Amino acid sequence: MKLLSRRSTLGLLAVGGATAAIGGYSWSRKDLYKPTRPLAIPQLVEGSVQEGIRNFDLKLGKHVSQFVDGMDTPTFGINGPYLGPTLRFRAGSNIRLNVHNTIGQPSTLHWHGMHLPAKADGGPHQVIENGASWHPEFEVRQQASTFWYHSHMMPRTGFQVYHGLAGMIIVEDENAAGLGLPQDYGVDDVPLILQDRRFDSGGAFEYATSMQDRMMGMKGDTLLVNGTINAHFVARTNTLRLRVLNGSNSRFYTLAFSDKRQFHQIASDGGLLERPHMINSITLGPAERAELVVDVSDGRTVKLQSTTPSQGGMMGGGMMNMIMGGDEDFDVLEIRPDESRKPSISLPEKLVSLAIPDPQKAIRTRTFTLGMGMMMGGGAMTINGQSMNKSRINETVTLGTEEIWIIDNPTMMPHPFHIHDVQFRILDRNGNQPSPGERGNKDTVVVNSNERVRLLLGFSDYADPNTPYMYHCHNLEHEDAGMMGQFAVTE
Ligand code: C2O
Ligand code: CU
Ligand code: CU
Repeated sequence: MKLLSRRSTLGLLAVGGATAAIGGYSWSRKDLYKPTRPLAIPQLVEGSVQEGIRNFDLKLGKHVSQFVDGMDTPTFGINGPYLGPTLRFRAGSNIRLNVHNTIGQPSTLHWHGMHLPAKADGGPHQVIENGASWHPEFEVRQQASTFWYHSHMMPRTGFQVYHGLAGMIIVEDENAAGLGLPQDYGVDDVPLILQDRRFDSGGAFEYATSMQDRMMGMKGDTLLVNGTINAHFVARTNTLRLRVLNGSNSRFYTLAFSDKRQFHQIASDGGLLERPHMINSITLGPAERAELVVDVSDGRTVKLQSTTPSQGGMMGGGMMNMIMGGDEDFDVLEIRPDESRKPSISLPEKLVSLAIPDPQKAIRTRTFTLGMGMMMGGGAMTINGQSMNKSRINETVTLGTEEIWIIDNPTMMPHPFHIHDVQFRILDRNGNQPSPGERGNKDTVVVNSNERVRLLLGFSDYADPNTPYMYHCHNLEHEDAGMMGQFAVTE
């Protein structure tokens, strides 16, 4: 079993990790990479219409997966052994999700990025007991986007997502469909769900076994893309659109191609950017998404690779990376252009019109200060000094208004901050304009150490004084440890 011997090699290296890292040595997963398996493409489902409503049936189950031949890994899955189908929603349509839980423990399913009534959100208040079902309904009132869905079962979100309770959502609209972008699912419009995992010697996922896993967030040494280890993809078109979802519990990825080729970012969390943005690398924190367009017309095999960005702070980048277990490089995907390919697509100059964010419209400013009491020994993960309490609504906002939220991170590590129900705009980071790739709609923002990020957000359509939405750090171990709060929207 190749993977096992590979892992024990890494285990030995990890034991000597302190010396190795301080000496500037870091091992590379790339050395061990053998592209062997075709990338799994989650099944695409569009639901079936009953009385004008599109119904999607989702069954959460307990399974055994074979990520490596001959090795059994107990997993959770949705309509399958690991992860769930990709749900395709059309803007303007009415959706009903029929979620049935059979995993042997309570769970929830949250529609990350979606603007919807709080009761349909699938957060910690919409628990589905084992054996029970839940049937939220809502109208899709958003533009074309890449969203996702996942368990939000406090305080077991990290465990359940790690074992497979997640999937992608693609929202389509007329504007996006008419732009000539690659949109043939699994052919030139390719989902890439990035997740790092660790296996024990019996083949089971190892989850949060150390203090470090719980404090810094769970990191793995093996990369799964759509549940595939060592994935490759055969390109049958010269232009590929990659929908990248960082579905990891806590790992950040900086993605670039092995030959440093340039590519375009066309969308962020909440849909298209105004115009394609040319880059040669992109960093995604947990739960962030980006749609990338890459040209492979030169016919050469190329690898999408990831390095973990340096996460500097008061202890210094190298030391910090060592503590966070974050220094590994991974090959994400080998792209092999087929002999015959469809011709290249040229991107339109303008993708969508977005309103210019106007901070003057905000009626109020709130500040959210992140805290990691555990770092100092004892205490918990907090926002404004408080840990999540399901029976406390921390903030009440007014329907039809806009606000500025300042996310303040005095801790030594970055936190991916996520707000339910809304898509926000980033006004600035420590007073500096966001980069072009961050000027579109977002629902998750990386707040670096010693950074204050100002967001502009509006609350529309849905009010419910009794059912809150969540805001939280999307490092799932931090979220489960209490770095989460609740806001209600009232009329
Ligand atoms: Cu992706 Cu509160 O969740
Ligand atoms: Cu969410
Ligand atoms: Cu965090």
